[in-house]
Amino acid sequence: MYEIGSSNLGLEIIYHTLNDIPWVWAERAFLPWVDMIKKMEENGIPLFTMESKTPLLYMNAVGISLSYELSYTNVVEVLRLSKIPILAEDRRDEDPIIIGGGPCSSNPEPVALLFDAVVIGDGEEAVVEIAKVLREMKGSRRFDVLKELSKIEGVYVPLFYESQDKRVVPAYSFAPERIRKRLLKSLENQAHLVKKILPHAESVHDRGVVEISRGCTRGCRFCHAGMFYRPVRERSKENIRGIVEKMLDSTGYEEISLLSLSAMDHTDINGIVEEILPILSERKVALSIPSTRMDSFGLEIAQKIASIRKTGLTFAPETAKQRLRDVINKNISDDDIWNTIISAKDAGWRRIKLYFMIGLPTEKDKDVEDIAKLIEKVKKIGFKDLSVSVAVFIPKPHTPFQFVRQISVEEALKRRKIIMRARKYAHISFHNPWMSMIEGVLSRGDRKLLKLVLKANELGCIFDEWKEMFDREKWMKAFEETGIDPADYMGPFDLEEPLPWDHIDLGISKGFLIEEYRKSLEGIRTGDCRWERLEIADGRDAPYAVCALYSKPGTILPSRKDEIMWYPGHISRARKAVERMLKMVNVVMEVRDARAPMATSVYGVDLSRKKKIILLNKEDIADDDITGKWIDFFRKNGESVLSTSKFEDRKTFMEKLNMYLSSGDRIMILGVPNTGKSTIINKIKGRRVSAVGGVPGVTKGVQWIALERDKKLLDTPGILHKKLFSKELSAKLLLVGSLPVERVDFKVMEIAFEIFKSRTNEQRSFMEFLEFYGRKRGILIKGGKIDHDKAAYMFFAEVASGKLGKISFEVPEEF
Ligand code: GTP
Repeated sequence: MYEIGSSNLGLEIIYHTLNDIPWVWAERAFLPWVDMIKKMEENGIPLFTMESKTPLLYMNAVGISLSYELSYTNVVEVLRLSKIPILAEDRRDEDPIIIGGGPCSSNPEPVALLFDAVVIGDGEEAVVEIAKVLREMKGSRRFDVLKELSKIEGVYVPLFYESQDKRVVPAYSFAPERIRKRLLKSLENQAHLVKKILPHAESVHDRGVVEISRGCTRGCRFCHAGMFYRPVRERSKENIRGIVEKMLDSTGYEEISLLSLSAMDHTDINGIVEEILPILSERKVALSIPSTRMDSFGLEIAQKIASIRKTGLTFAPETAKQRLRDVINKNISDDDIWNTIISAKDAGWRRIKLYFMIGLPTEKDKDVEDIAKLIEKVKKIGFKDLSVSVAVFIPKPHTPFQFVRQISVEEALKRRKIIMRARKYAHISFHNPWMSMIEGVLSRGDRKLLKLVLKANELGCIFDEWKEMFDREKWMKAFEETGIDPADYMGPFDLEEPLPWDHIDLGISKGFLIEEYRKSLEGIRTGDCRWERLEIADGRDAPYAVCALYSKPGTILPSRKDEIMWYPGHISRARKAVERMLKMVNVVMEVRDARAPMATSVYGVDLSRKKKIILLNKEDIADDDITGKWIDFFRKNGESVLSTSKFEDRKTFMEKLNMYLSSGDRIMILGVPNTGKSTIINKIKGRRVSAVGGVPGVTKGVQWIALERDKKLLDTPGILHKKLFSKELSAKLLLVGSLPVERVDFKVMEIAFEIFKSRTNEQRSFMEFLEFYGRKRGILIKGGKIDHDKAAYMFFAEVASGKLGKISFEVPEEF
């Protein structure tokens, strides 16, 4: 529909990219509303383009965007109304080539056979290459054209594949087994649309949209977009400013929206806002961001943005309690949520909107009750207008939850009732569970579902994503008449079982998804790839922005040039945060792991003008003799050093610490990941807990903890990642848990194991050991074989946490 489709940024990007080519003429067409479809049919008018009124049937190619599974029946309708043969196999040489694209391309199977080609991933470059092939091969046999198209990276030609049970496999020897998604390496070099096609009717989103970044590295396990659009690619503030200026000049919009999966995670979001706000306020143009991050930084930005016009705030806690947020890897804490909401209220916001999901893996009724309670609590803080949107969780392909069971309509209705208890506190909108069921079936569907989609359309299903148009009776009838049981598509699926989208390669390995899924069941979180995942790249460190992608040679590895685009920004942001904090203090307590004090030293910040205290932590799991030697070693070098562990009581610890401190000292705690910084801060805090959930009076920004005699401690630890100069360094960081095991390659694990051997009585080789250890722990996969990955994972986790004994991995003699 024009009113909806005309505000689709992807469509416009493709439109302009193609029209920029002198020999291409690209036009737009939209499926009209049902009354017009009827009229067109009655009068024998086929669907035509808006610009030159050419029937789609006479175009060389037709591109259809697949952004939502519930629009599949519309695809059938477009083809039918255009009088284009619906099935790709029935099309003749002169028929247009039908091309699909958009996020549903990550599993296009239910409608794959409607398309001659599907572009998987970013379309900007692929469409240009497709246009070239179509031009060069004009007049050729359809088969040959498709064959040529299939050679373009990211282009999938479904006719060249067939279903074998659940798997989709090549039917021709020239077709690759897996189709790798197309990845646009840089947004910065990609021209942004500035001359928006101005609609002559009002569209749903009447505003200028600027894409500030693509991709998200947070790794929420339910999020399809987070997986599909990886890695993160950002535009610079200068670039964005240029776009905004040109866009305002050429359109006259009254609102600009910054588009991104997580706008506040842009490494320079502050800079961007500061850069464009003056331009906007001068012209009285408002600025908006899709949703606000739930922390003080997010709110700070939201406040700046609202300086022109204060609209509502939107937050997505997804669920009420920490446990379930850990399962889905939504890395915000209860404190974050409360502090942000209370601060939002204090800052004068009256309208907020919250997003939740139900039906998440491991969810119980109690979790849903907690959402209702949360709604009540938020309302009672004093918001005038609270709206809540609740969706049924739909497991999506290529996410860690692609294996899990989707809840049934009955279960969803039951949980709906629970949430509705909070109706008097908020305006609650609840997604239609029947629609969610159909969406779920199509999301993880296979080629067999094509007959379902065709049947549903035949029965009159169209515009299914519209609540008032969605007709569940018709869909149920379509299931019945095609003999398809929706339950077959709702999961759970066996981890080993082939899936209908395994041949689509987004660059995220199935092994990674399985590992993430397992971690979710244990409630283990995975950090944001930007900050927490380091990978050895030619001996340098790089944030693991694509996760699982970089460690597997043969998958999309960016060239050095491309890496420069994104990684210095991320590392430098962490570093800058530390440098900012350093300015506020005169004492740095550097927390190192007593088992490897050199490997866990901080690196890359200037501490020369600070008083430094080295804290050798975790002495309880280090070799006592060796820790003693390290203390002598550092003292000889003139350093202030002490050793401790989380088991030391506060009083003894403070007495030791005070020997090095004087009145008026301002102290911060710094160290590489996992050395115990937070544990130490909490110990120093003692019972004095600051700013917890529900307690008003939250301090904005950094907090100080008062210590006796006028000393102050910053309550945020500084985390610095090590530059991974060598595999040996990585191995030691792995052994103490500062580098997660899933982020190192096999060689590093082997080296780590050798170090472990040299400090223990272990004699076996790494593989022999994994066999032994895996068997002992019962980590088996099908056929009684040992799951080596999992065994290694558990082994290193146990070493790091000291479960295998008091072992030190570095001795002073080596330095
Ligand atoms: P990041 O914020 O990830 O950099 O971690 P951190 O340095 O703040 O470490 P945190 O305090 O979160 O502790 C990391 C892990 O080490 C936790 O599992 C702690 O329980 C454990 N830990 C901390 N101190 C000690 C200690 O003295 N002995 C032992 N055995 N474990 C400790």
